[in-house]
Amino acid sequence: MIQLHDLFFEKFISQTEINQVVNGVAVKINDDYKKKSPVFLIVLNGAFFFASDIIQKFDGNCEMCFIKVASYQGMKSGDDISTVMGVEPSLKGRDVIIVEDIVDTGNTLEAIIEILQQEEVKSFRIATLFYKPKAYTKDRKIDYIGLEIDNNFIVGYGLDYNGLGRNLNEIYKLKRSRMKNIVLFGPPGAGKGTQAEVLKEKYQLVHISTGDVFRYNIKNKTELGMLAKSFMDNGDLVPDEVTIDMLKAEVDKNIGAKGFIFDGFPRTNSQAKALDTFLSDKGEEINGMVALEVPEDLLVERLLKRGETSGRPDDQDESKIRNRFNEYETKTAVLKEYYEAQNKYFGVDGVGSIKEITERLCVVINNL
Ligand code: IMP
Ligand code: MG
Repeated sequence: MIQLHDLFFEKFISQTEINQVVNGVAVKINDDYKKKSPVFLIVLNGAFFFASDIIQKFDGNCEMCFIKVASYQGMKSGDDISTVMGVEPSLKGRDVIIVEDIVDTGNTLEAIIEILQQEEVKSFRIATLFYKPKAYTKDRKIDYIGLEIDNNFIVGYGLDYNGLGRNLNEIYKLKRSRMKNIVLFGPPGAGKGTQAEVLKEKYQLVHISTGDVFRYNIKNKTELGMLAKSFMDNGDLVPDEVTIDMLKAEVDKNIGAKGFIFDGFPRTNSQAKALDTFLSDKGEEINGMVALEVPEDLLVERLLKRGETSGRPDDQDESKIRNRFNEYETKTAVLKEYYEAQNKYFGVDGVGSIKEITERLCVVINNL
């Protein structure tokens, strides 16, 4: 993994594969321009390496010139494209091959083509090393495509992120999830609250406890809080959407957070799905559901002991305690399945000292 400015990138395409792709394009261009003397129009700065490699493989006579247009700021493509450096000398009557590093929306390309049409070139074709079909908004067919890629932001072999990364000889892609988002699970008495406090400090995460969020919204009479209360007052369950909206608002309050510990949420399959959609719209994801596993008999023992000192009635009656476990088991089973299907379920042995359990949790979380 590498860091450029504030972002992290991971290896995506090897040098060997780039070479193969570049060769493939070079062979086709050689075939098509056998008896011609084309001009390679190199789009600066990104296409510089690609152009260098394909032009060196060109067998006949050719010329090259450069054009520089600006449309990109950071990672967002703009449709406002200005020519920073125009074509020189004139391309009138020439067979031109536009050499691009990557075609994304196609805006840059269209701007260049407009210039070529004004120049009254004889013919033009487009060669690009990378092409993002899902981002492309134009109808124009691209003549030579090295490799089609998904809408990832990539760097290396000429491509940059705000100026950096061009010198890398392999292609790296933006690591999608920059956050560590954890769903923390555990039956009553498993020590979830204690561990959440420790983990929050250690990983600088925001701890979102559904119970706290509900109490906060109701106490402060927020719109969602009042809505939730109206259901509760009628003895109805608060609908998923209301709970989800409260949680979303909580996440959105913490711009720039390094990640979240979700505690008491999600509780249902549809909540889990809604959370996934919400996060993925932000380019984020749940990295793992971490569940503290403690044998039921031990938990009953712990809770009864807690009941003796706390006087909490629900901690004093063994059958009531066992009932809470049943409920927990039924609920978790569904969610465990949900996250297991994404290879994101991690059970952690919750028997031992606080420190021992924290250590076990950290082994899992460090790898998320
Ligand atoms: P378009 O105008 O949206 O097609 O964008 C084309 C230009 O955007 C390319 O020439 C690149 O300079 C830049 N670009 C698009 N996608 C990427 C990427 O994934 N990494 C780096 N630059 C990119
Ligand atoms: Mg470019």
